[in-house]
Amino acid sequence: MTTEEIPKTKEEEIRSRRTFAIISHPDAGKTTLTEKLLLYSGMVRTAGMVRGRKNSKAASSDWMAMEQERGISITASAMQFHYKGAVFNVLDTPGHQDFSEDTYRTLTAADSAIMVIDAAKGVETQTRKLFAVCKMRGIPILTFINKMDLPSRDPLELMQEVEDVLGIRASAINWPIGYAKGFSGVVEIANKEITLFQRSEMGGSRRADATSYTLNQLKSEQVIEPELLTKLEEDLGLLAEAGNPFNKEEFLKGQLTPMFFGSAISNFGLEPFFDRFTELAPSPRALTALTPTGDEIEIDPVSQPFSAFVFKIQSNMNPKHRDSMAFLRVCSGLFEREMVVKHHRLNKDIRLARSYSLVARDRSTVDVAYPGDVIGAINPGTFAIGDTISLTGDFNFKPMPRFPPEVMAQIRPVDVLRRKSFEKGMLQLSHEGAIQVLRSFENPESAPFIAAVGRLQFDVLQFRLKEEYNVETHLDMMPYKYGAYVIGDPRTLKKTQSSYLATDSDGRVLVLYPNEWEKRFIEERSPEHKLVEFVQG
Ligand code: G4P
Repeated sequence: MTTEEIPKTKEEEIRSRRTFAIISHPDAGKTTLTEKLLLYSGMVRTAGMVRGRKNSKAASSDWMAMEQERGISITASAMQFHYKGAVFNVLDTPGHQDFSEDTYRTLTAADSAIMVIDAAKGVETQTRKLFAVCKMRGIPILTFINKMDLPSRDPLELMQEVEDVLGIRASAINWPIGYAKGFSGVVEIANKEITLFQRSEMGGSRRADATSYTLNQLKSEQVIEPELLTKLEEDLGLLAEAGNPFNKEEFLKGQLTPMFFGSAISNFGLEPFFDRFTELAPSPRALTALTPTGDEIEIDPVSQPFSAFVFKIQSNMNPKHRDSMAFLRVCSGLFEREMVVKHHRLNKDIRLARSYSLVARDRSTVDVAYPGDVIGAINPGTFAIGDTISLTGDFNFKPMPRFPPEVMAQIRPVDVLRRKSFEKGMLQLSHEGAIQVLRSFENPESAPFIAAVGRLQFDVLQFRLKEEYNVETHLDMMPYKYGAYVIGDPRTLKKTQSSYLATDSDGRVLVLYPNEWEKRFIEERSPEHKLVEFVQG
């Protein structure tokens, strides 16, 4: 019997969960790192079999490709596997052209995040945006500086950039030895234990062999070039004097990020990172919910009966069946197939029947799931983003945050006689949360327009209006590329000629503008207002 098979108590099951997302800018190495997690967990024996990920397929379908090629069942939304006694639930945050509100929303289901940064490029836009959501939610973030095998920026400079651009304290847990082609290992800051890696014959598809040294051994045995040793000692001296010591409490509050260095492609630095991640990343914690009278209560994962919330709805996974799948994150108690739960928004009891399947190791219907796990449910219109279900009823998890759109367009039916179907389709599809419907703040009677985080959502919308509602539509893109919520009286905001005030379906006012420069200009002219990127629902 392996450690994975020894039965655990419910509490042990929950404590062993690590539910997390990997956030990064495209090309920083998220897919490669995910593959290597599978390699080091023993889920696959060789990595590097994902082909064609740079062609039409976006990041979300990478996992589908893996699924087909490896014969293991993982889906676009979550996968589960064991790593040294822990149970990892990795949530996919689609990037590339699939970047959407879903990408942001997935972070609401994560207990921690791994931020992958390209060592040559530093902090890039998409990472900055995803990081902002994690910060707003107080999610602990571990930073992995990747591609240390390529010419890269100085590690100290990268740490400084993380602090300056993201506004979080950075604390090095390990430090690279050598750089670019000479990158050969890492040193653990706390105990100065050195691990040097050897490239395996199979390149990065097999685990890299590692040898441990003390600093003294490294010196006496002349294992690395003398100049590398000098640089390492200098860096360690600097870090001891000026570096931030690691503080677990600050990390758990999302105020400090532990930093790790490595190369996902060659497997250098991966095992030390995965091991520390397992140790540091939190298991599911108590979540705040609201009672019908608006009181805040804490829902403890262990002591409370079953509860879950919907963080994502994926429609038309199979266009022939027009099905829609709701992804639920279990927050407390035990999920059991066939259980009857209260659906808070609809105020009715529903049975979680056979159609509910775990998005995990195998395709079979899920029998049990624990807090931190994700369950997928066929959704015949029962679920909307942010819905809470529970055994006891009487509370709702906090509403989903709102994310400002980045693409906006006017949309109308080509055939005016189809307007009724058009409106019905728009209403239904906007409920699913992929697009938002906005109105002019100054002229609310004018035609509404649509907005989304990623352009792909518009294509999906047009396709679905045609397929499901038989409505051909015409789309006119609007020139705005950025949006921010206005805190303060919108009527006194000194906006520019080329910016636009809009109201969302919840009555929140946003200012839309064509470039970042306009935003700064508006902020300077209206110091009594605040323009914020994300609002808590
Ligand atoms: P993403 O999911 O964040 O978009 O990144 P992905 O893992 O697809 O990596 C982007 C590119 O960077 C890939 O190369 C990948 O092989 C490479 N890469 C990832 N990690 C490392 C690393 O540690 N060192 C080096 N040198 N390269 C790394 P590609 O040529 O674009 O794709 P492929 O042909 O290798 O699939």
